[in-house]
Amino acid sequence: MHNNFFLIYIFLIVFVPKLKAQTKYDEENDVDIHWSYDDQEHWPLVFCRNGTQQSPIPLSQNTSLLTDLKPLVIENFDEEYLLDVSQNGHTVVVEIPEDCYSEIPKLSGGKLTENYTLSSFHYHWPSEHTIEGIQYSLESHFVFFATKYVNYTEALKHPFGLTVIGVLYQETNYTESDNFEVIAEAVKETSGQLYTKVRTSTPINLNDFLPSNQDIFFSYEGSLTTPNCSEYVNWIVFKDTSIIKNTYYMDLKHIKDENGTLLEFTNRDLQEINGRTINLQKS
Ligand SMILES: *[C@@H]1O[C@H](CO)[C@@H](O)[C@H](O)[C@H]1NC(C)=O
Ligand SMILES: *[C@@H]1O[C@H](CO)[C@@H](O)[C@H](O)[C@H]1NC(C)=O
Ligand SMILES: *[C@@H]1O[C@H](CO)[C@@H](O)[C@H](O)[C@H]1NC(C)=O
Ligand SMILES: *[C@@H]1O[C@H](CO)[C@@H](O)[C@H](O)[C@H]1NC(C)=O
Ligand SMILES: *[C@@H]1O[C@H](CO)[C@@H](O)[C@H](O)[C@H]1NC(C)=O
Ligand SMILES: *[C@@H]1O[C@H](CO)[C@@H](O)[C@H](O)[C@H]1NC(C)=O
Ligand SMILES: *[C@@H]1O[C@H](CO)[C@@H](O)[C@H](O)[C@H]1NC(C)=O
Ligand SMILES: [Zn+2]
Repeated sequence: MHNNFFLIYIFLIVFVPKLKAQTKYDEENDVDIHWSYDDQEHWPLVFCRNGTQQSPIPLSQNTSLLTDLKPLVIENFDEEYLLDVSQNGHTVVVEIPEDCYSEIPKLSGGKLTENYTLSSFHYHWPSEHTIEGIQYSLESHFVFFATKYVNYTEALKHPFGLTVIGVLYQETNYTESDNFEVIAEAVKETSGQLYTKVRTSTPINLNDFLPSNQDIFFSYEGSLTTPNCSEYVNWIVFKDTSIIKNTYYMDLKHIKDENGTLLEFTNRDLQEINGRTINLQKS
């Protein structure tokens, strides 16, 4: 009797933690977490390799259809939010905590036929989209889901379920806003622990992350740029870029993958346009 309990105990302490570590699964995106930017040809889903509407793509006025689109309506980005910052071995993720008392940011307008709710935002370095052939230092993705669905995961199952706003940033020596410093500080505080959420020390106005000119943007149908590469994504990328101070940039991207290796780059390769229409808001 005693021996059996002892064996079960040994089994639990020796095997269960490993089992847990090896079956880490990204439920939200229905995909195994063990993929890497070094090995993009082997991303876990066939869809990432044989999709026909994949992202990112090169954006240029030359290859766009100049269109008179409705203005974007970005609501509640001027609220002051305390944010939850974490890392997942692929990027830095920022979420608005569920116990926040302000209105959640919303998006509509442009080519969108639905209202969208902000789910989270994250970063890629260097930028994934290019504009007029230029790759910038950083790109942030504000991920919205169609408000008529309950959450991100549910929206991912439906055409036009998601809309992502892409913002590209140039490094500079000086910025007026300390928005990125607050995020970078929180990243340091996670001490390299994956999935640990750290609340920012001061509230942030999300507008500080957007370019000052939000009137001109590219708009096209594409995919998530990470597995599972779902193609139910409306893309909106501002033509105007914004800035990030170089020291905050270094701190923000100082994270490691699941094996403790510094993530040098977190951008997916450019994908084929495959005859898709890219709209560019007329200036
Ligand atoms: C991506 O994940 C969603 C949500 O789990 C799932 O419904 C969808 O079928 C997946 N798409 C692909 C292309 O695997
Ligand atoms: C981590 O190491 C394992 C085992 O060598 C490997 O299979 C996996 O792809 C690595 N993860 C990344 C993100 O490189
Ligand atoms: C991509 O591969 C999947 C799985 O093999 C298949 O179901 C799908 O039809 C393929 N799509 C294209 C466009 O080839
Ligand atoms: C989007 O929200 C606005 C304001 O709440 C509402 O008037 C409109 O009907 C909504 N649109 C859709 C497609 O649900
Ligand atoms: C855009 O078109 C102009 C003129 O045709 C050409 O010089 C330029 O290289 C093109 N730019 C890109 C990014 O394709
Ligand atoms: C999203 O909603 C579905 C359906 O209600 C639920 O099963 C799932 O757990 C939710 N996912 C998250 C991340 O909240
Ligand atoms: C600005 O930063 C760059 C590196 O990004 C550096 O080479 C340059 O000396 C800096 N200029 C000033 C005035 O600090
Ligand atoms: Zn992204």
